[in-house]
Amino acid sequence: MRFKLAYRLKKSDLLTVAVLAVGIGALLFFKGVDRAPGVTPDCPECRADVGSMERGGHYEEMLWNGAQHVHHSSNESLLQFTRANRLRVDSKDAKIANCVDCHGDGPDAAAPSLGALWVRFPRLDKATGRIIDFEKAVQHEFVNRYDGTKPFYNEVRITEIMVYAYEKARQQGRVFDVEPDDGQPLTVAQLDALDTSAACRRSFDKLGVPKGDIAPYVVKGCNIFTETARNRPAGYGFWKTRMNCSSCHMDAGGKEYAAHVGDALVNYPGVYSSNNIVFTNRMRIARCYAHSINEILYGANSEHYKLITLYMAWLAEKEQLRVGEHRPSRGIHNIRGTAARHASIIAGQKSYAQKCEICHGPAGYGSDRFDRLRDFSPPPINGSEAFVHTATLSYSSRFASFILNNMPPGATHEAPLLSEQEALDIAEFIRVQTRPSAPGTSNLAVFYNYLTNTVMEAWFGDKTGGGS
Ligand code: HEC
Ligand code: HEC
Ligand code: HEC
Repeated sequence: MRFKLAYRLKKSDLLTVAVLAVGIGALLFFKGVDRAPGVTPDCPECRADVGSMERGGHYEEMLWNGAQHVHHSSNESLLQFTRANRLRVDSKDAKIANCVDCHGDGPDAAAPSLGALWVRFPRLDKATGRIIDFEKAVQHEFVNRYDGTKPFYNEVRITEIMVYAYEKARQQGRVFDVEPDDGQPLTVAQLDALDTSAACRRSFDKLGVPKGDIAPYVVKGCNIFTETARNRPAGYGFWKTRMNCSSCHMDAGGKEYAAHVGDALVNYPGVYSSNNIVFTNRMRIARCYAHSINEILYGANSEHYKLITLYMAWLAEKEQLRVGEHRPSRGIHNIRGTAARHASIIAGQKSYAQKCEICHGPAGYGSDRFDRLRDFSPPPINGSEAFVHTATLSYSSRFASFILNNMPPGATHEAPLLSEQEALDIAEFIRVQTRPSAPGTSNLAVFYNYLTNTVMEAWFGDKTGGGS
């Protein structure tokens, strides 16, 4: 039996397609698409408050919405969370105060402005001994003041209010204020009892020992940051790296040109360049957990994220960084190839053997698997325990800049220990090695990667006369 496979297009088919296309087009045009962004809905108070906005990008979109929430919070925008109040959009008499009615900018406002509150978080809730971040605090307001239902963490409208509060703090040039000025600094015995890491102690020597009731939490945050693997919640870290945040964010996160995390905190929420969406600080931390240390993510309400954020705020306060300040040294820079010649893998392998191998091992596996020195274990830069393929450092232009400014230890932006060409060559050599392909790579894939790398390690040991 033979089937006829070809279908001959009839004129009526084309007509149907055309009619459908016009119909869908019209539907989108009249219904679904915001054709004139920035025009509707208008809010003169919002304009007067945060200034004129083009609504050109995601940040301004969120800022605009955030301004609408705080000026009209109780009725339209946040109705969903205030169900318990039996508010309805059209029942104007049931109106309760908007955020700015109490949290105004004026001197006789009933409560501090949201910009002023922004820089006081994360804070300690003395009743429960837990750390509360700004997001949580807004949730509390909905429940306590508005009699509302509890919004989710990650709720877009809460993030929009955060963007508004951040923007106010930025416009007012505020500095974080999480540490009480009149508190007592922790004693050496207290630091010992908290098992304070050596990297944190060095940071406290430089910036001052944390003070007041918040101090033990600052230390906990710093410990997680500098000894991430040791301070994992139980059950995490299977087949994962033993790297620390401070393996890259050096000097306990306080080194310029090594992605200083005080610089980071004063710039979130902000647009994250690689995917052009607005990231909060917590989302940015989570991203490094996933990509840089290939760690399974903790819950959004995780105490770990809050403690790290508190430590970052403390760092920003100590260095008196203003909200929104963007120092030239922020982040990890880019360096690109020089005109002289392309980066060379062979030259990179040679330089690596001379300048890096002694610490990071012949195949770049670091010393984590070989020794257990608590305060000095050069982390892996290749292989199954290194940062994953989608981490920022796996771009060779970023990697080259990181090592130019920071490696071998002792190097700084002002006094590098490598030439630009050497850094580019080494980056090229590193780029062609193996590493986990994506965060959350399955155990089997990581195991396979691990076997491959063990063979590669032996091979490299042979070639370079090293070994482990
Ligand atoms: C009826 C007045 C009133 C309204 C309306 C109001 N607040 Fe408050 N809010 C206060 C007062 C008073 C405090 C306590 C201030 C203090 O601790 O100094 C407060 C505290 C806060 C805090 C800090 C909470 C903490 O845990 O320390 C945040 C954040 C906050 N409000 C956000 C908001 C937001 C967002 C809205 C609108 C959705 C809002 N508030 C609406 C009066 C109000
Ligand atoms: C393998 C190296 C590496 C590790 C480990 C690492 N990070 Fe990162 N981190 C980076 C790089 C690279 C960037 C990108 C800096 C940039 O955007 O220029 C970054 C960015 C960040 C930022 C945003 C910086 C900014 O200025 O916007 C934060 C916050 C952050 N990391 C927190 C952490 C935390 C918390 C940990 C530990 C859980 C961690 N990182 C572990 C390499 C690392
Ligand atoms: C004296 C030992 C030593 C030498 C030599 C050295 N490193 Fe490191 N490296 C470290 C230590 C220790 C860290 C962790 C930083 C910290 O804890 O302050 C690190 C961190 C790194 C990191 C970021 C963390 C990671 O694992 O991804 C990279 C990348 C890196 N080194 C690459 C290099 C390269 C490339 C060279 C050669 C140019 C080099 N290092 C030379 C000790 C060394």
